[in-house]
Order: sequence, then structure tokens, then C-alpha cells
Amino acid sequence: MFKKVVFIHGSPRKKGNTLALAREAMAALAEMGIASDVIDAARLDFKHPGCIACYKCQGSEQYGCHVDDGLARAVATLPEYDAVVLATPVYWFSYPSQAKMVIDRMFSLIKFGENHEILSPLAGKPLALLATGGGVVEENLEVLEQQWSIPAKRIGVPFLSCLFPLCHYPPGEAAQDPALAAKAREFGKALGAMIA
Ligand SMILES: Cc1cc2nc3c(=O)[nH]c(=O)nc-3n(C[C@H](O)[C@H](O)[C@H](O)COP(=O)(O)O)c2cc1C
Repeated sequence: MFKKVVFIHGSPRKKGNTLALAREAMAALAEMGIASDVIDAARLDFKHPGCIACYKCQGSEQYGCHVDDGLARAVATLPEYDAVVLATPVYWFSYPSQAKMVIDRMFSLIKFGENHEILSPLAGKPLALLATGGGVVEENLEVLEQQWSIPAKRIGVPFLSCLFPLCHYPPGEAAQDPALAAKAREFGKALGAMIA
């Protein structure tokens, strides 16, 4: 069956290094016959920047955010994909706020079962991370990796990550480094193999 992956792009830069490297991963997926879409977190329209804690998603049988805006509509599409990749720079040792707006609204895609287990239409779909940073992995990119791996663990889905520390390139030029491009493509291939 036709497979597709969604990349939640967390950088405010339209042509930054994270997206350039994510494009390499998408190219590797395309070679495996897997399509990719990008959700540009910084360019979604929203009535509220993030979750307003109305808990309507938890009171409903349906999975989805009850706020009527672009952020909610983007999040509602995530279960249509075979894998969800967060492609983001690290900001202040964590997620950029633009990415976090999407992540917080993903609360609408989970419910808690009787034994506090997490139920989600994302079940069975790998969660992955492709992250860049100007700094090192330790106490920096690894924090993002751990943060994004926890929902994967709680939902019970496979997790894959690819970290690009010391990413000191002009915007968009990181993928011109053959070693970085190859690393991003390997990540794409590994993700493709998980869902093929
Ligand atoms: C507001 C801000 C905060 C940042 N914080 C960190 C940080 O905590 N750790 C780090 O390694 N790099 C940090 N950086 C650097 C970016 O993560 C890095 O330049 C990244 O590769 C940019 O990706 P992009 O080109 O896709 O936007 C920060 C950059 C900005 C603008």
C-alpha cells in the first residue's frame, strides 16, 4: 500500500538547515516509493498559540482538537500518515515555541484508558526526530531526543532519531556537506524500512 510520512517542521526559517536536511531524508524515502508532506509549524494560523486546556478533546469520543484553526486542522491530519517526524532546531535546550504549539495540540490525539494506558490513532506509527543545533549533543540535543522519545514510549510506537550537533552553516547550506546529507539520507532509509 502507498505509504506517506509527515514532517512537522519546527524552524521559523523557511529555508533553514533543518528543512534542508529533512529534504535529504525525504529524498531517501521517495527512492523507496514513500511520499512525504511538510507541516510548517511556524506558518500555521491559530486562534490560540498552543493548547487552551479546554479538555474538550478528552470529553469527546473523537480524536481531535476542538479549536477551529489551522493548528487543529494540521494536527488532525497526523493519523493519516504512516510515520510522524519532528524536524526541528533545538531552541534554548528544548523545542522552538512554534513546534511546541503543534506538540501541545497533539494532546487531542491521545486518550487515557482505564489503567492510564495511552490510546491513540498514532498507535503503530513510528515517531521520529531530526534535529539540528549549534551546540553539542550532551545536555542539549539529547534533551529534545529524550522529550520526543517519551510520547513514543508511552504510546508504544517505535522511535528513531538523527541529531546534527555543531550545525554551523549558513541557512540551508548544511545539506551541501556530503557527510550531513548522507546521514540524513540514512535516517530516511531507516525510517522507510520501519514502515515499508
Ligand atoms: C532562539 C534560538 C535559540 C537557540 N538555542 C540553541 C540551543 O539551546 N542549543 C543549540 O545547540 N543551538 C541553539 N540555537 C541554534 C540553532 O538550533 C541552530 O542554528 C539550528 O541549526 C538552526 O536550524 P534552522 O536553520 O533550521 O533554523 C538557537 C538558535 C536560536 C535562534
